[in-house]
Amino acid sequence: MLSYLVLFIGLLVHGVASSDYACTSQGGSCVDYRYFVCNGGVETGLCDGDSNRRCCLKCDTTCVSNSENWASCCDSACTSSGGTCKDNSNYCSGRYSSGKCGGPSERQCCSSSTSSGSCNLVTYSTANVYGYNGLTVQVEPGFKSNMVDINSFAISCGVEVVVTHAFREEGQDLGGTVVPPASNSNHLVGHAIDMNLDTPSGFCNSDCLYAKYNSYANCFLNKVTSSGLRWGGDFYSPDPVHIDDGLNLSSPSQWDSLYYDLQANCY
Ligand SMILES: *[C@@H]1O[C@H](CO)[C@@H](O)[C@H](O)[C@H]1NC(C)=O
Repeated sequence: MLSYLVLFIGLLVHGVASSDYACTSQGGSCVDYRYFVCNGGVETGLCDGDSNRRCCLKCDTTCVSNSENWASCCDSACTSSGGTCKDNSNYCSGRYSSGKCGGPSERQCCSSSTSSGSCNLVTYSTANVYGYNGLTVQVEPGFKSNMVDINSFAISCGVEVVVTHAFREEGQDLGGTVVPPASNSNHLVGHAIDMNLDTPSGFCNSDCLYAKYNSYANCFLNKVTSSGLRWGGDFYSPDPVHIDDGLNLSSPSQWDSLYYDLQANCY
């Protein structure tokens, strides 16, 4: 009898001391999040065990009724295409896309990766626009016509655009799930390049581009900005090597869906 009591107290102490406490103390439960849908959302760092063991946050009565209301009013765009609407902190073996589910912006449509699956980027390289040090310049097809314009500006101003940076990979956790973006940079959706210019009066780096003392560079940058593209030298925090089309501002929802598609499939 005494030994049972000792065992019981031992379990109790272990239970309280366990690092699941940060989750359970707020009403959540620690689960392998790949196998559950948590309408209250999922939080990392609150549970013992491997990285798939996450805190399924408590869904109180308001949360339950909200989920039911959103599902019955507004999820059909997602569910009719075979997807599931859930808070995007939940596991999704495919990718999340926005604009197809009821509720707040974090409630998104998880659809299986088999619907897309391939990396939708194109490689761009010409005699006047090419990657620095063998870099492959990859952009999203919607930005390709802008690259064609950039190429024609380079030709008419007599410069070569040396691209140091185009599409950027970011946003996947260790389980391969695409995480919400930390920043909405246009590099993350293949709608931006960073560059230096090779000109008849020498190489023009960030300082040179910003100082505007190279007439060939000025010719090029003027054409870039008059075409409607944005030059980073005009930004509040100047980034003189940067050119983009401002997609993150002009169409945040398109930015979002490109982000989840490209970041899931372009690795
Ligand atoms: C939009 O993208 C630019 C360049 O990628 C970035 O500097 C800026 O912070 C972004 N703005 C927002 C609101 O996300």
